[in-house]
Order: sequence, then C-alpha cells, then structure tokens
Amino acid sequence: MTKILITRNLPESAVDKLNESYEVEMWPHEDTPIPREELLDKVKDADAVLAMLTETIDEEVFQKAKNLKVVANMAVGFDNIDLESAKKHEVVITNTPDVLNETTADLTFALLLATARRIPEAVEYVKQDDWKTWSPFLLAGSDVHHKTLGIVGMGNIGQAVAKRATGFNMSILYHNRSRKKNAEQELGATYVEFDELIQQSDFVVCMTPLTDETKNMFNADVFKNMKESAIFINSSRGGVVNEEDLFKALEDGDIKAAGLDVFKNEPIKSDHPLLSLGNVVALPHIGSASVDTRMKMVELAVENIARVLNGEDPITPVN
Ligand code: DGY
Repeated sequence: MTKILITRNLPESAVDKLNESYEVEMWPHEDTPIPREELLDKVKDADAVLAMLTETIDEEVFQKAKNLKVVANMAVGFDNIDLESAKKHEVVITNTPDVLNETTADLTFALLLATARRIPEAVEYVKQDDWKTWSPFLLAGSDVHHKTLGIVGMGNIGQAVAKRATGFNMSILYHNRSRKKNAEQELGATYVEFDELIQQSDFVVCMTPLTDETKNMFNADVFKNMKESAIFINSSRGGVVNEEDLFKALEDGDIKAAGLDVFKNEPIKSDHPLLSLGNVVALPHIGSASVDTRMKMVELAVENIARVLNGEDPITPVN
C-alpha cells in the first residue's frame, strides 16, 4: 500500500484526506522533531513525506527512500531540502507559499514595532516591579512612523510588510533580484541598490530566502554601513546573518537594535550571546504561527501530496 510519512504530529482533521486512501504514519510528537535515525529508517518504504523545516532532506534521505515520489515541506522556505539530489532521484518537492504571506508580514511588523518601542523590555519592567514613577525618557524608543523602511527581498511577504508600512507613512526602499513594478506603483516603494538601502534605512528588514548567494550576507561590513540608529529585523532565515558580526555590531553601537525571529541554529538556548544584549528582541521562529495559517499550510501540503500520488501536478512545486 502507498505509504505517507508525516514527520510531526498534526491535527487528524487536516490529514484525514490522506488517511482515506493511503497508509499514513505520523511521528507522534508535536514538539519534538523526528530523530534523524528514525527518519532514515521510516523513509525506506515511504512514497511521500510531509516534512517540517526541522528535517534535513538530503542525498542520504533520498538514497534510502527508494519509493519516494514527493516531499511536501510545511514551510515556504525549502533550504532544508537538497534540490539537486531531489532532481537526481526524480522526487517532486513542494512548499507552502502565499497562504502565510499576511500572517508572516503581521509578525514581522509586530517585531519591528516591539523592537523600536522596546515593548518586551517594558513588559518585564512592569512585571519586575521596577515601575516607580512616570519619567520623561522612561523606556523611550525609536519612532516608526515617517521613517525609512528598507526591505531586502521583495517577494510576496516583503510586499505585504511594505503594505503595512504605508499605514505608518514610512518611505519604502527595497532591494530584490528583480524589479517589482507593481509594488512601486501601488505601495510607492523605490528600488535601490543593496548598499544604498543599507545606508539610508532606519529599519532594515530581511525577507530574503537562504541560498548560497544570501548566506551570511548581513556581515560586519554591512552592519558598519547602516545608520547607528538603524534597527535590523530578520524573519526569513538565520543563515543570512553572520551572528557573531551582528553581536559585535550591536555591542559596539554600529546599529541600535535587532528584532530576530530566526537564528542560524534553532532552537537557541538562553546562553546564546545575542540574548545577553538588552537591544535584542528574540522570538522562536513564529512568523507564520497563527492557528488559521498553520492549518492552511498543512492543508496545502496534504493537497500537494494527494495530487502527486494521483499523477497530477502539485499546486505549489518548487522544482
Ligand atoms: C516558512 O514557512 O518558511 C517559515 O519560516 C515557517 O513558517
């Protein structure tokens, strides 16, 4: 019988469609990824895998998975999957774009606001009984309205972030591999070279996927080129940032603060150097984490698998 491996415990209602026609094996834990050895063992007879971004799907996996036809990644990013190997082994790879655009843009803008206005610090201040009186510059942060936002990576999520920025009367700069004429016309966004964006932006928001070209692109030189008052926001992938360089830039005052939803090696622990800094707001990779959107991501991944196993084209292939 055709077998589907789901690498995390997902709501039964969302995967029912697969249960009807296929043998589905689901890793029983929601908060613990399937161990590598288990994955390598369980893919051996799998025709399809519904994978999370916590699984590295590489040559070793493809070699073991002789029956594999499709890997549906429950994420828009697919840097956890070796596309060259997938091609070699003729496995279809799909992701979950679009359904998460607005939710991820909401979180990105919330992180920007939280970092600029020092909201997590302020919450702790009240909880710790440090609030003794009103003071003129108590927890005074940076304004967001009428400032310049620079978006690196103007895909659909980047454009959704830009749309939110229009409500704050921000000037919007962007840098992207290709020009986005619609965003220029509809959102008033201006295309600039990367260096210009870095130098002129009050908020630099990284929305670019992790690829060989973007790995470590935010490094010491880039942070030095930013305004000293600049705030750096990252909700794409941690690997695009050199974290040691970011730490130094924040410590030395090359930039003012950073809001980070993603890290190079996740999960980070409380002894991560960036967490020792008062000007860092850190979140546990929750960009698309609303219940509605996560359900839509599961449903899209399920639909992609059903289609491929049925001999049809998937809705959102990446290869
Ligand atoms: C994605 O979809 O790539 C996010 O990072 C996880 O929700």
